[in-house]
Amino acid sequence: MRISLGRIRTRRRPDIDSAHALSLLEATLESTADGILVVSTEGTITRFNQQFIRMWRIPQEIADSHDDERALAFVVDQLKDPDDFLKRVHELYADPTAESFDVLHFKDGRIFERSSKPQVVDGIPAGRVWSFRDVTERRRLDDMKDNLLTAVSHELRTPLTAIVGFTSTLERYGATMTDEEVADLYTRLSNNAKKLQRMVGDLLDFDRLARGLVEPKRERTDVAELVTSIARESEQMTGRHIRVAADDVVLSIDAPKVERIVENLIINAARHTAPETPVWVRVRAREDGCLIIVEDAGPGVPDELKDIIFEPFKQGPTAQPQSPGVGIGLSLVSRFAALHGGRAWVEDRKGGGSSFRVFLRDENPTVDLRQAELSRTTT
Ligand SMILES: Nc1ncnc2c1ncn2[C@@H]1O[C@H](COP(=O)(O)OP(=O)(O)OP(=O)(O)O)[C@@H](O)[C@H]1O
Ligand SMILES: [Mg+2]
Repeated sequence: MRISLGRIRTRRRPDIDSAHALSLLEATLESTADGILVVSTEGTITRFNQQFIRMWRIPQEIADSHDDERALAFVVDQLKDPDDFLKRVHELYADPTAESFDVLHFKDGRIFERSSKPQVVDGIPAGRVWSFRDVTERRRLDDMKDNLLTAVSHELRTPLTAIVGFTSTLERYGATMTDEEVADLYTRLSNNAKKLQRMVGDLLDFDRLARGLVEPKRERTDVAELVTSIARESEQMTGRHIRVAADDVVLSIDAPKVERIVENLIINAARHTAPETPVWVRVRAREDGCLIIVEDAGPGVPDELKDIIFEPFKQGPTAQPQSPGVGIGLSLVSRFAALHGGRAWVEDRKGGGSSFRVFLRDENPTVDLRQAELSRTTT
């Protein structure tokens, strides 16, 4: 008796079974991060998940029409190479048993991986399941990792090799060298060590910024004093004379970040222009903050690169083969400016060369306006 009751309880009606299977299928389809599309052998869309609609930005009305050709026509326009996409789709529809995997490049820069498998019912192909994975972010991170590795292996090795060379020269021949020769080696050693320190600093900042770990720690700071002292230090490091003209302005800023801004801009001016090219640094007071300007009389930046050079790993034509640089300096400058509610950009300098500008926002600056006016008339 008990046994038969059990049997009755576990046996389901066929419509309940299929409702259960259907809801399981729906839930499975919707729980995946991939976009899924199922098309019958007749070319009718039999199923898709919401992620598919979102990824392809398909209007609900087209999705509801279940017309594969209409959906295809809508999506194809978003791709860089629509002909290749359509060719592949038609090839696969012609061979119902084939499987496929390929990569789709969108006009807006997105990248999808597309794979496709036949849907088989009782050994007979009934349609095709397409799945789409948005790999834009993963590819971007892969590219960044490659770029960082190239940077680390090349750029960090150069000063390190110099440091090892200078120290072993001092070890072996230090006792027989003149005081001037020893002093010269120490200067070179220190310059290379600082270069290394700066690059490691850049790479760490870049990583921390990319992971959103940087919060500005603002403190009242004498910007003129800060900028002047970095200019003097950079003079020693780059061997360039730097003319400084700074308004007397005190702002709430994150001083170490602003140091990195000014240092990167001055080193760029020295690095991307011929020796002896003049370099100017100015601080201009503004009602809602200040403007830091680093100018040079070098080759300048072509219009088409003026925005691009602020993106990570993007470099212009001035890179030197022996020390090409990493291409992250200006991206840090721009992100540090943004941390201060400001921005960074480049203009053409009147008289030739480039004029890099950074606006730092602070609604309550302390400015000695009389002095600011005076310094403006003398620069
Ligand atoms: N003062 C300048 N004059 C002309 N071009 C410049 C100047 N400053 C920067 N650039 C251009 O902008 C590009 C990007 O600069 P960025 O500081 O981001 O990288 P980098 O100097 O090449 O390398 P690093 O990561 O070591 O700073 C440079 O490669 C260069 O082409
Ligand atoms: Mg740089």
